[in-house]
Amino acid sequence: MSHPSTYRPGTAFERWIDRRLPIIRFADDFMNFPTPKNLNYWWTFGAILVICLVIQIITGVVLAMHYTPHEDYAFASVEHIMRDVNYGDIIRYTHANGAAMFFLAVYIHMFRGLYYGSYKEPREMNWILGVIIFLLMMATAFMGYVLPWGQMSFWAATVITNFFTAFPIIGEPIKTLLLGGPAVDNATLNRFYSLHYLLPFAIAGVVVLHIWAFHTSGNNNPTGVEVKDVKKDTVPFHPYYTVKDGFAIAVFMLLFAAFVFFNPNGMGHPDNYIPANPQVTPAHIVPEWYFLPFYAILRAITFNIGPITSKLGGVIAMFGSIAVLFLLPWLDTSRVRSMRYRPVARLWFVLFVIACVWLGYLGGKPAEGIYVVQAQIATAYYFAFFLIILPLLGLFEKPTAQPKSIADSVLKRDKAPVAAVAQAAE
Ligand code: HEM
Repeated sequence: MSHPSTYRPGTAFERWIDRRLPIIRFADDFMNFPTPKNLNYWWTFGAILVICLVIQIITGVVLAMHYTPHEDYAFASVEHIMRDVNYGDIIRYTHANGAAMFFLAVYIHMFRGLYYGSYKEPREMNWILGVIIFLLMMATAFMGYVLPWGQMSFWAATVITNFFTAFPIIGEPIKTLLLGGPAVDNATLNRFYSLHYLLPFAIAGVVVLHIWAFHTSGNNNPTGVEVKDVKKDTVPFHPYYTVKDGFAIAVFMLLFAAFVFFNPNGMGHPDNYIPANPQVTPAHIVPEWYFLPFYAILRAITFNIGPITSKLGGVIAMFGSIAVLFLLPWLDTSRVRSMRYRPVARLWFVLFVIACVWLGYLGGKPAEGIYVVQAQIATAYYFAFFLIILPLLGLFEKPTAQPKSIADSVLKRDKAPVAAVAQAAE
């Protein structure tokens, strides 16, 4: 913990514990963590994500009690959960829609980080751990989607793992290792089930590091200006942010419940209610919505680049679109953190968000004609934003004046004309 402990054990028992395992001190310090007083609702998504992870683990463990990871029984065991298990339909729909809500929250959390420059020094580690969590989330969701053993499960697994064969020499062995054989079958289902159970706990472990990291550097805040005076600029995490986060979690849960109870299959694909059939390929193989932007990038490369085939180019572009996130803290050269004070960067950021949403739309369309051209333009912009725009903007743009401190910004002192502030100071 980066702040000095204010915990004073009140009873003999607490003193006894404190000398042996200072866990009450740890919880007390956690709750009193000095948090910038100006955090807005975009900062509640971290807590929302913790709740999403807990919900996924609890519902997942219960589903595992009734699910059978075998190609002959998997589909039927899911139907059994839906029809026979007490509250099985609610538990399954909560888990399936929970995955989508988890991604919705993580995308908002990442865009928040981008906008307010939360990846910049000294929070690089926080951001990098976040990208690792994101990768683990994608792997977990991909493998989870295979478990119901419907048509989309089977064919999505076939199509995605087949892309690995684009890599020369190592491609085929990687695919065989992933599938447990030459094609998607029972061995694939078994290993995906095993890993789908394991990975959420790995995510939980990285989340602990993620939280540890920002408890070391302190939270960023909408101004991007560091805490200067702990007394004036911060408030204790509890009760201020436990209440604010609690309210945001409640609103988020309402939206979540609306999907679970009123439109539980709205985000799913009807073909996944058809049992997996290796003999029949569905007309359009589409992943879940949260993978669509990456799917669009994968399919945007339709041309060979020298020795790199279009298929390999697509795979490199898709992995590259995530790899570039690891480099972001060093690609953005601006010394100003928050885009609140970077009017030009803000415009490019809005275009970036539009490009990502647009890629999501295109990922759901067939990879042909005008859709491919649009995906190519949006993919080019995606990479240009990180590799050209952010590095250059930092050198050329003129940021607007930042407040002197968080307290000043809260009291709107930064809005007053400079002369008036100078007068007030005298
Ligand atoms: C299971 C997924 C995740 C959980 C549970 C989680 C949790 C949290 C929590 C509780 C906070 C502090 C509150 C807040 O700032 O919202 C936080 C901050 C942060 N997260 Fe995450 N996070 C997750 C994924 C990610 C991902 C995927 C990224 C980016 C790629 C990321 C980047 C950050 C950054 C940069 C901060 C510091 C924010 C600041 O202080 O401004 N997180 N996270």
